[in-house]
This record gives sequence, C-alpha cells and structure tokens, in this order.
Amino acid sequence: MRRCTVRSLAKINLDLRVLDKRADGFHELRTIFQTISLGDRIDIEFEPGRGTRIEIEDDLGIADNLIIRAAEALCGAARVRGRIGFRLSKNIPMGAGLGGGSSNAAAVLLALPVLAGVRVQLATLAKLAAALGSDVPFFLHGGTALGIGRGTELYPLPPPAALHGIVAAPGVHVSTPEAYAALGRGLTMPGSDPDTGEFQGIVWGLGDECLSEGWAGSCANDFEIAVFHRHPELKIIRDRLRRAGAKPALLSGSGSALFGLFETREHAAAAAAKLGRERSAKGIQYHPVSLVNRRRYQALWWRQLREHIFGKQWPPQTRY
Ligand code: C5P
Repeated sequence: MRRCTVRSLAKINLDLRVLDKRADGFHELRTIFQTISLGDRIDIEFEPGRGTRIEIEDDLGIADNLIIRAAEALCGAARVRGRIGFRLSKNIPMGAGLGGGSSNAAAVLLALPVLAGVRVQLATLAKLAAALGSDVPFFLHGGTALGIGRGTELYPLPPPAALHGIVAAPGVHVSTPEAYAALGRGLTMPGSDPDTGEFQGIVWGLGDECLSEGWAGSCANDFEIAVFHRHPELKIIRDRLRRAGAKPALLSGSGSALFGLFETREHAAAAAAKLGRERSAKGIQYHPVSLVNRRRYQALWWRQLREHIFGKQWPPQTRY
C-alpha cells in the first residue's frame, strides 16, 4: 500500500476577459491564473491489484466528484489497476470561482501516476485535464500563467509584484454555465478582431516593478457586471476591499469569491481583520492568502511526494 497526503491549492484570476462564443460552445478567454495559499487536503492510497476500485470519503458528500473522474481517466489512459482510496478535507469554498474542484482533479493527475508507478507525459496529463474541465490544466503547472482559448492553452508569466492578498468568500454559489449565459450580448469584446489592448498592457506590466502601479489599476473581470447584477452584495464586498486599500480588488472567475491584493502581508492581514469585524461581514469569510509562484508550487509537490519520486522533475516522476 502506497500513501501520500497532498495540498491542492486554489486559484484566482488576476484578470479575465471573455471574448466571443466559439463553435464548440465554449467562450474564447484571455485570463491570468494565479495559485494562492488556500488549499484542500487530499489523502491518497494506492494498492496494486487485478481489478480497479476507486473510493472517496468526503464530509460534504460532493456529487460527481471530479477526483473520481480524474482517477478513472488516469487509470484508463495509463492502464493503472488497483484499489485507490481518497479522503478529501475541503477548505476551498465551492461555487466560488476559486477552482477547488479543478485543483483536486489536477492533484489526482499529478499524484496517482507517482503512486501507481507509471510515467505519463505532461502533454497526456494536459489532455486528460482539459477533458475534465477548462481550469484543470492550469493546476498541472501552478504559479502565474496566461490562459487563452477555453483557458486550457497556457503560458508561464512572471508573478506580480504584490504577493499578498485577501480572499472574501460570501457563501453564495454561482453556477459557471449560468454566469456565461448571463454574459449574453454583454460581451465586452465581440467580433472577429477583439480589442485586447488593455489586457496586453497588463500582461506586459506583470512583475515589472516600474509598471506595477498601472498594472493593478486596469485589471478587470468581465463577469463582474452580470454577476453583480444578480448578486448586488458581491459588488459591495468588492468595493469594501478597494476602500481597505486592495489593488486590484476583483471577482475571481465567475464568482462568488472576491479577492484583493496588498503590498505587504501585514497590510493584507490588517485589512482582513478589519473587514471581518464589520457588522455587515456576517456570513462572509475573509481569508488572508499569499500568492504561490511556480517554483513554490513545484517545491510543494516534490515535498509532499518525496518518498515516492525520483529527483526533482516536472511533472513529478515515480521511483517505482
Ligand atoms: O470546462 P468547464 O466544465 O469548467 O466549463 C463549465 C461551463 O462553463 C461550460 O459548460 C460552458 O458553459 C462554460 N464555459 C465557457 N467557456 C469557457 C469555459 C467554460 O463557455 N472558456
């Protein structure tokens, strides 16, 4: 029996532009993904055997858990057979645009080949990940990344200068397909030649100290108008984060979570404590978080799989 315990981190979208609806029904995106220190815990067990049995224990009884689907996909693609057991301890709010389910699925794709003793190319993992969901491939890399297409075509970016923040989880569940549907004709960049000038400016300014001021000032999330229209309380939280000094302060993904970035950890912690004390904060959780760059993301994975891997390679490679 081989075992490991992994932390599956959440993401925020530092910027998110929704372009046209494509022929396949998905929307063309320009986004900047960023992993953060908020995470779930997954205990994984693998026992080689003739047949395949996949089981999960989770306190919330999540229906159609992506963890199971990711394990089935991996077993099919890599001809893995045995008993696989998962225990999920959820920390990342669900239906919040923080990629919790997607991150859990990617965690299975990274950890299971290592425990099962099979080698799977990153390109194969990326294909399996994209079939599980548009946000899953990003978590095979972590750090800061440019996402285009459905959000599954990814390129590395330097991390932003501000590395600390707050995630506000209002306890509201926003359905992603409904949020896309609500965008309707409100898409800000329709047409075959969209104006991505502002987005390009943000990508060029990322990680650039001398441009950081301008960088944060023009970040946007195209879901805000439609989602705030349906849930006005979310805009109030976004504005509170702004008044507390966050720059930028935005909705993450299609919501409901909001985040704000601050220059220093102290700044973020003080703002989280102050916002949490406000009377209107009832039902809202303010989590101080740090941004996790790709090097830290990989180091976390090598550490949590250390007894099962060979060297420091990416994706982590099995020693069995
Ligand atoms: O890929 P994922 O399962 O996360 O997508 C959920 C839904 O969100 C899709 O069925 C689609 O309605 C919408 N979506 C989209 N364009 C994207 C990503 C998701 O329209 N780029």
